[in-house]
Formats: sequence, C-alpha cells, structure tokens
Amino acid sequence: MPGRDRWPSRWGFVFAAIGSAIGLGNVWRFPYLAYKYGGGAFLVPWLISLVAIGIPWFIAEIGMGQLMQRGAPGTMARIGKKWEWTGWLSTLIAFVIACYYTVIMAWSIVYLVSSVTLAWGPGAAAADGVGPFFNQTLGLTGGPGEWGGYQVTIVAALIFSWIAIYWFIYEGPERLGKLVKWTVIIPWCLLAILFIRGITLPGAVDGLNFYLTPNFAALADGEVWFAAISQIAFTLSLGMSIMFAYGSYNPKQEDINNNAIITSLANCGTSFFAGFAVFSTLGYLALQLNQPIDKVAGASVGLAFKTFPIAISMMPFAGQLIGIIFFGCLWVLGIDSAFSLAEAVATPISDKWGVSTKKAALSVAIAGFVIGAIIFSPGSGLFWLDMVDRAVSFYGLLIAGFLQIVVIGWVYGAERLRQEANALSDIKIGGWFNVMVKVIVPLGLLFVLEEGLRSDLPSYGGYPVWATSIAMWGTLALIIVISLILGFGGREDIEN
Ligand code: PHE
Repeated sequence: MPGRDRWPSRWGFVFAAIGSAIGLGNVWRFPYLAYKYGGGAFLVPWLISLVAIGIPWFIAEIGMGQLMQRGAPGTMARIGKKWEWTGWLSTLIAFVIACYYTVIMAWSIVYLVSSVTLAWGPGAAAADGVGPFFNQTLGLTGGPGEWGGYQVTIVAALIFSWIAIYWFIYEGPERLGKLVKWTVIIPWCLLAILFIRGITLPGAVDGLNFYLTPNFAALADGEVWFAAISQIAFTLSLGMSIMFAYGSYNPKQEDINNNAIITSLANCGTSFFAGFAVFSTLGYLALQLNQPIDKVAGASVGLAFKTFPIAISMMPFAGQLIGIIFFGCLWVLGIDSAFSLAEAVATPISDKWGVSTKKAALSVAIAGFVIGAIIFSPGSGLFWLDMVDRAVSFYGLLIAGFLQIVVIGWVYGAERLRQEANALSDIKIGGWFNVMVKVIVPLGLLFVLEEGLRSDLPSYGGYPVWATSIAMWGTLALIIVISLILGFGGREDIEN
C-alpha cells in the first residue's frame, strides 16, 4: 500500500496553513472589531487570546494530526473510538462553511467584473447606488421567507470558484504545497498596494486614528473578550478539522511548535496590516462624504460590498483598478481558505473509506457547489447564509473545538502531547501549555458560547424564530446527528 500523501516541503505546509488562516476574516472582520472594541487597546485582549488560546489550540490540532497521521475523525478515533464523532462534527462544519464561503467568493467575482464600469455609479453617485446594486446583484428578497430567484452571474461565478478549488486540491498536498506560496504572496502584494493607495489619500490619518486610538476602558467589558476569543478561533481556522488534515500530511518527525507560532503570527500580522488598508480608505471616504467614520464603517458583507465600492468610485484616479485589486484580493484571500475547507473534508473521506484523493475532492466540490447554489444563491440566500454562518462558524466551531480540546487535554493528555511536540520542535513549550489546553482553552470557549447564547436567544439578528430554528438550531442538530452516525456506525479507518 502506498504511504500517506506528503507536503513537498516544510514551507509547503506552512504556507498552506497561513493561506487557510488568512481570509476574509482578516480584512473585513478584524479591523472592524478593533475599531469597535477599543481601537489600539483591542490588541491587548486579542494578543492575550492569541497566546493563551490560539497558539496552544493550534499546536494541539496540527500536533495531533501529525502524530496520528490522520484528519480530525481519524485522529480522535485513535484516541478512542467513541471520540471519532467529534472529528466528524468539525468536518461537517468545514463542509457547511465551504458551501457558503464560496458564494461570497462568487460575489467578489461579480464585483470584480463590475469594477471595470463602476456599475454601482461613478463618483459621489455611488453613495446612493451601492445599496440598489447590491440588492440587484444578489436579487435580494425581503426576508428568509421569500425564496427569490437565482442569479445566473452568481451561479456562474460559483461554478468557477469550485472548479478553481478542485484544480488546486485534486492531486493532494504534494502539488498543492507547491502552489500555496502564490495564494499567500499574491494577496499580500495586493494588500500592500491597497495599503499604499489608502495611506496616500486625504483623510487617511483620521481613519487610522479611529482604528488605533486606544480606549483602555473598553477592556473591562466582557464583550471585548468575547470578540477577541471568537475572532482568534475563526481567524486561525480552528475547530474546522483543517489543521488536523494539514498536519496529517507532515512527516511524523516534522517540527510542530515553531510551525504553529510562525503561522499564527503571520496571520495576526496580516490582520493588523489589513486594518491600515481598510481604515485609511474609510478615513478618505468619511472626508469625502463629510460624515463621521463610524457612520461609513460597516462590518463584514457591508464593508466589502457596500462601503468599499463607494470609496472605489470616489478615488481621485484609477478607481477601477483599485476595485479590481480589492475584489481580486478578496477572491484570492478566499481561495486558500476555501480549499483548506474542502481538503479538511476530503482527507477524512479518503482516510476512512480509502477513496482516492481525486474522487474525494471531486465529491466534495460537486456536493458543495450543489448545496451552495440551491440554498445560498437565490434572492434569500444572504439571509440563510447569515444564519447558517452563525450556526456553524460560531456555535458549531465552539462545540466541536471544546469537545476535541477536552479529549486531547484530558484523555490523550496535554503533558504527553507537550513532550511529543517538544521532542520534535526547535522551540520547547513549558508546563503552561498543559494548563492552557486542559483549562484555559475549554473555559474560554465555554465563556464565548454562553455569551453568544445570551445574545442570540430567542432570536439571532432579528430573523423570525421559525427561520433561526431551521437554519441555526436545525443545522446544528442535523450535523450532530450525522456525525454521531458516522462516528459510531462505521468501521475503524483504513490502516496504512
Ligand atoms: N480563517 C479564515 C478567515 O479569517 C476563515 C476561514 C473560515 C478559513 C473557514 C477557513 C475556513 O477569514
């Protein structure tokens, strides 16, 4: 039997992990959280969460995947068959995220093309044009109860994105590892261009002051810690099976700690840097529109697809080019996160059933496309996307991550993992690691879970309760049941 697939080099792995970690969250989520929760002061809880929760958890995921040479379900099964389902849970989360993450990538393509003509309106007219343009591009309906029609352009862009994902991963990590440096370096260069363009615009300094001026009083607020911890989990792509799968393609004797630290720091450095590009541009926009910055700054989808297009139309010159760069950057940032999700699903499929990498990748791509097209591409897709996102990338990720880290810390043993990782790594981690893995990470995740439930019950985001019951609690229940069936029903995974 041939051996397990391998990364072509250590850097192949590190770039793949960095590429997965760096995604839309670095550009549209981090800068917004920073400004909302204390500006420069937000860096304090964020860095503490990185060190206390992010890095130990990251070491646990890539370390266990590497030591067990399996994706998440196989790794958990090797600790004990009864834990296998927790690995399937995070795998299904990855799959569901892939279904809608690619739809957002599809919007980016449509916007990239629309940048050429500034289709939302030239100059100041864009301020009134972006809303209707967004609604029209998505065919947006009035709410989740009104299903709406399908937009050909979005479905076409979705097909394109899935073909790209398949193209990257169909031959497994050997080939992927050679391509990933491009999917990391290209967005870095594009961000650098956006950064330079941003800080040379009038008003940029005001934007940056807004982003960074520290408000230490904010740190006393529990919500700030909530934001910092949940951002760290999401941005490092934890709790989604990805790092288990990526670690499993390392040779058993590869370094663990140093790789984890390099990846986490590269990711967080990128977030910080992206904040400059975003906020300098927002400062410019605020000046042009003669509005306060907190009025123009939107979060997530709004920031990228409604606020940024206005800035693009109002740029003194070559706005079209900046638009193409910005939306191209979003797509490239997304692609390596998206294929890491697909790989996180394909890996356990081939681990468990011995299916070839090609077939596993193709099944994931087809299933992901079909579900994304049916549920997230019609006019109500944005609403369902928003609710399902909350269900999986928040609740699901926290539940799966909590279960896995508890099993790793207490059943496999944090001390055992620490010794095994230290034996392989340049940087030795101290006994603090055990405390983090066994106590701090689980407690941190429980805290975030509890805070989230408190704000989302009875209903999240103003959606009707019937809709959140289906999209959030229904999705969660469904993936838990499927993972229990997969975890307890099947045979042991294929040995090799
Ligand atoms: N880490 C990515 C980001 O910050 C998000 C991501 C989500 C990556 C899901 C992979 C999977 O945007």
